[in-house]
Amino acid sequence: MKKAASLLTATTVATALTLGLGAASTAHAFEDHGPTIDYRQGVMSAIGGNVGAFAAVVVDGAEFGDNLKMHTSQLVALTQDIPSLFPEGSDFPETDAKEEIWDNWERFEELSNDTREAAEALHAAVEAGNEDEYAIRFRNLGQSCQACHDDFRRD
Ligand code: HEC
Repeated sequence: MKKAASLLTATTVATALTLGLGAASTAHAFEDHGPTIDYRQGVMSAIGGNVGAFAAVVVDGAEFGDNLKMHTSQLVALTQDIPSLFPEGSDFPETDAKEEIWDNWERFEELSNDTREAAEALHAAVEAGNEDEYAIRFRNLGQSCQACHDDFRRD
């Protein structure tokens, strides 16, 4: 399947190039969102990496407590505008994003906002040094990720 999809992409690009600018609007339906998908998977992986690093310290006791603020500030930055990573039609060629995203865009935005707010709340707790809040804020953040993945990411 992977091979067929990339062959199709190569053909589409070649056709678009051959037909030139005049064909641009027709070719648009088959636009190759590969670079966008690579970018958003990179951003999501970075989000996941920071969440994992935070858990290693707060849940498992790794002695990098001084770095928590760095991780939560990155989470705040990386979650500011998740919807912008999902331009319409970017469920092609290879992605775990479900096409339901674009049929339920408002819900997708709501879930993105929940994650952004949860990241900001966790960061605020770390900045204030409110250690007794870390666990609950972290759980809220994790649940917000899960809520979106349950509905909009392929397993
Ligand atoms: C509003 C929806 C939404 C939210 C919120 C969200 N994600 Fe995702 N995430 C997705 C979708 C959709 C994909 C699949 C993207 C793709 O394959 O193109 C994904 C993919 C990922 C991936 C896999 C990246 C890869 O390399 O394929 C990781 C890791 C991840 N998310 C972690 C997180 C974490 C951690 C959070 C919360 C802090 C989070 N996500 C919040 C929708 C969301």
